[in-house]
Amino acid sequence: MSSPTYSPGLEGVIAGETAICSVEGGLSYRGYAVGDLVEHSSFDETAYLLLHGELPTAPQLAAFQTRLAAARRLPPPLNDLLAALPSSTTPLDALRTSVSALAHFDEDANDQSHVANVRKAERLLAQIPVVIANHYWLSRGGTPHPARQDLPHAANFLFMLRGVDPTPAEVKALEVSLILYAEHEFNASTFAARVIASTLSDLHAAVTGAIGALKGPLHGGANEKVVDILTAAGSTAEAAEKWVRDALARKERIMGFGHRVYKTGDVRAGILKEYARKAAEAAGSIGLEEVAEVIEKVMAAEKNMHPNLDWPAGRLYHAMKLEIPLYTPIFAMSRITGWAAHVIEQLDNNRLIRPRALYKGPDRRAVQPIGERK
Ligand code: ACO
Repeated sequence: MSSPTYSPGLEGVIAGETAICSVEGGLSYRGYAVGDLVEHSSFDETAYLLLHGELPTAPQLAAFQTRLAAARRLPPPLNDLLAALPSSTTPLDALRTSVSALAHFDEDANDQSHVANVRKAERLLAQIPVVIANHYWLSRGGTPHPARQDLPHAANFLFMLRGVDPTPAEVKALEVSLILYAEHEFNASTFAARVIASTLSDLHAAVTGAIGALKGPLHGGANEKVVDILTAAGSTAEAAEKWVRDALARKERIMGFGHRVYKTGDVRAGILKEYARKAAEAAGSIGLEEVAEVIEKVMAAEKNMHPNLDWPAGRLYHAMKLEIPLYTPIFAMSRITGWAAHVIEQLDNNRLIRPRALYKGPDRRAVQPIGERK
């Protein structure tokens, strides 16, 4: 056997082929630049693109949205479970448990064919915002707002969370963030989903594992840390500059900065920044944007490190007055499209994903009988 090559964290390793997404020359989904999708498509159109391979025609989009609207409901026992979870359960953990539980009620649970997986993916896309909103209300002893059949994905979510119609500007900003969050090649959660799928497990199991991987602050959990950082940094440019320099001197990681692949900047962060700023202006919280600018400058000068998508996303959701523990679930409400597309692609041309490890343990030795061990 030839000696294996080793790359810590699998950095730079090509671990598979995909036709879904490329990070080369700027992020694109199935050949479309994300900036173009933000400009000329809605989140629902982008979700269709990821799940079905092409952008929809108007009748295809209408039929897709009708299917999603019809699937915006949970099996009653799941609502009972959401109400019974301890109050300390985070929304993301509740979502992970719910996706696992939804498998038991899915009519295609035992059908792993391509078409059944697309049906299951569409249902999960529709159900995830309902889980997040229902858990939000049930965990407070409240009554969830029934899903709206007439609204697209993002607008329905805001309605279910608040019980009032969102403004067009809020819907647009949330949609842009969802388009940018939808897919990102072999990121940690998607790779986890593909590994699970590659054992010929099922879609719900793969998505449950992906949510577990998304939770960590080095991945999706970073967007929930952004407001803490901005709050800790203080309200003036001088305080913010001192705070970030001190934090770097203490070797702390500034969440929302850095990326395994993008070393000169994340195109998604640049696109969403404008929406975060507009939302902050509307909310009267522009001060946080000024603090964010100072931190960006220091990070670029001191670490040559640039914002990733979580940096403006955390600020945008804060300006929209969404509660912080909802930020990573919102990421999942979009990334379900990328996860499912990858699971389906993996299963369409499957080979078990099973890499090797470089052994660093003791040399081969004999087992001593228990009485002779020291
Ligand atoms: N702030 C300060 N220092 C950092 C940061 C950061 N955000 N990110 C990396 N570094 C430093 C590390 O401390 C390390 O320093 P050292 O060599 O002195 O020990 C060096 O840069 C390399 O760090 P790695 O973790 O090896 O770099 P990698 O490219 O693997 O990391 C990662 C990518 C995990 C995203 C990292 O930049 C990070 O932790 N960022 C903060 C978390 C974050 O924002 N995650 C969101 C990712 S994007 C997304 O999920 C949408």
